[in-house]
Amino acid sequence: MDLTVVKFTQRELDEVNPTLKTAEDALKWTSDNLHPKVAKASSFGVEDSLLIDMMTKINPKFRFFTLDTGRLPQETYDIMDNLSKKYNVIFEIMFPEAREVEEMVQTKGINLFYDSVENRRLCCGIRKVKPLRKMLANLDGWITGIRRDQTSTRENAKMLEIDEKYNGIVKVNPLLDWSWDQVWNYIKKNNVPYNSLIDKGYSSIGCDPCTRAIKDGEDLRAGRWWWESDETKECGLHSPEGV
Ligand code: ADX
Ligand code: SF4
Repeated sequence: MDLTVVKFTQRELDEVNPTLKTAEDALKWTSDNLHPKVAKASSFGVEDSLLIDMMTKINPKFRFFTLDTGRLPQETYDIMDNLSKKYNVIFEIMFPEAREVEEMVQTKGINLFYDSVENRRLCCGIRKVKPLRKMLANLDGWITGIRRDQTSTRENAKMLEIDEKYNGIVKVNPLLDWSWDQVWNYIKKNNVPYNSLIDKGYSSIGCDPCTRAIKDGEDLRAGRWWWESDETKECGLHSPEGV
């Protein structure tokens, strides 16, 4: 049974958006209007570490979840553990349906994502998008670490927006207008623990087989699905199309 109550319309959110001057403003609004039926999605990139620090200062009871695809790097599990202990947070962990993963790898191969965009999207769909859908089915909102300058599909996002893809709940993007340097300054100033892969050149963190370090001068997301062209590089969590 879907217990979600859609409380807001985009028109109402568009009245609030101009009043939100900072990421903290967006999170305070979220705490006042959506908690406890709102949770932060974390993939344990540097933006997610930042938001865990900022959010626990605003509301220590904010909820956090992660989509464990089964193919995450060990460094990601290590930072999850560190952050959980430092901020006294329990991450709700969503796993994919075992039967679907079994069928997929038995028919298409364990490393199917390298064979075609179609296979890669199938894997992201089963391992990430479906578990996200399940998590969001009982929420009125979710909070993400997306930033506008990451991809062309994120350029037109809003701080508060109705997420049509997930039952019309509210999507909160507090760091939308932050630059990589601003994120980094916050991390240093507040002594926030971050994924050790960052120091090895991984500016964007995803599944182990689908993420590599970037070289000097490369785009910050060049290490994600690096064998694909730029237009296809969304796993479906944040794009309107997909599973
Ligand atoms: S992705 O769609 O390309 O994988 P990206 O790595 O840029 O997304 O992360 C942007 C935001 O999407 C993160 O800050 C987080 O809110 C959410 N996200 C991405 N991957 C996951 C995951 N595995 N679990 C939970 N949230 C995730
Ligand atoms: Fe599968 Fe790679 Fe997508 Fe992870 S990022 S879900 S391993 S295709």
